[in-house]
Amino acid sequence: MQTFNAVKLAQYLLLPKVNEAQCMIDATAGTGRDTLFLAENSSSDSIIWAFDIQELAILKTQDLLNHHKVAPDKVNLVADSHASVASYVNSPIDVAMFNLGYLPNADHTITTHYQSTIEALQQILDLLCTGGLISVVTYPGHQEGYLEQQAVNELFKSLPSKLFTVGSWSMMNHSNQPPILYVVEKTRSEACESFASRQNKSNN
Ligand SMILES: C[S@@+](CC[C@H](N)C(=O)[O-])C[C@H]1O[C@@H](n2cnc3c(N)ncnc32)[C@H](O)[C@@H]1O
Repeated sequence: MQTFNAVKLAQYLLLPKVNEAQCMIDATAGTGRDTLFLAENSSSDSIIWAFDIQELAILKTQDLLNHHKVAPDKVNLVADSHASVASYVNSPIDVAMFNLGYLPNADHTITTHYQSTIEALQQILDLLCTGGLISVVTYPGHQEGYLEQQAVNELFKSLPSKLFTVGSWSMMNHSNQPPILYVVEKTRSEACESFASRQNKSNN
């Protein structure tokens, strides 16, 4: 039995932050397992935004949440690209999860693409609270996933170390380019300050 994989490790690392989070994002709802993880491990007054471009994924996620009796107003399920996250969410974000690639047991041609992934990550980095966490699981074993992993890697390497800490993890002894998990932590307060100052400007 394998205890750890990139998806489980992401949940394990994010759990303490999820427990105290107010605003969380599941950028790729898929089958809804990460959305359910966020919902079941956070306080009753926290809010989750879950995005997916496939109606099938939105339905699967809604079914799973219903099955587990998650309160209907706890999760905002959005049938749209995560590249539009900032047009839905305007409060500081505590936790965001990206599990990239395609929906298991569905059309594998409908997959995440690096352009929209990078767009979404930039918007979320801008809204991320101090102490906030982002997890990203990339799948370099397929062509689009390889491009995506390269782009995510470049973006994360470019983040200023005074503001962010980024770590990565993968299975060293698995063949065929196993998934890579990245975890980003916002370690200083400039992002929330810049968010607040933008809010002030837009209110004036
Ligand atoms: C690997 S699955 C996600 C698995 C999911 N987190 C779970 O727990 O089951 C990737 C999902 O990303 C979705 N996706 C692809 N492009 C997207 C985009 N631009 N915005 C939001 N979701 C997207 C796919 O439709 C697919 O359902």
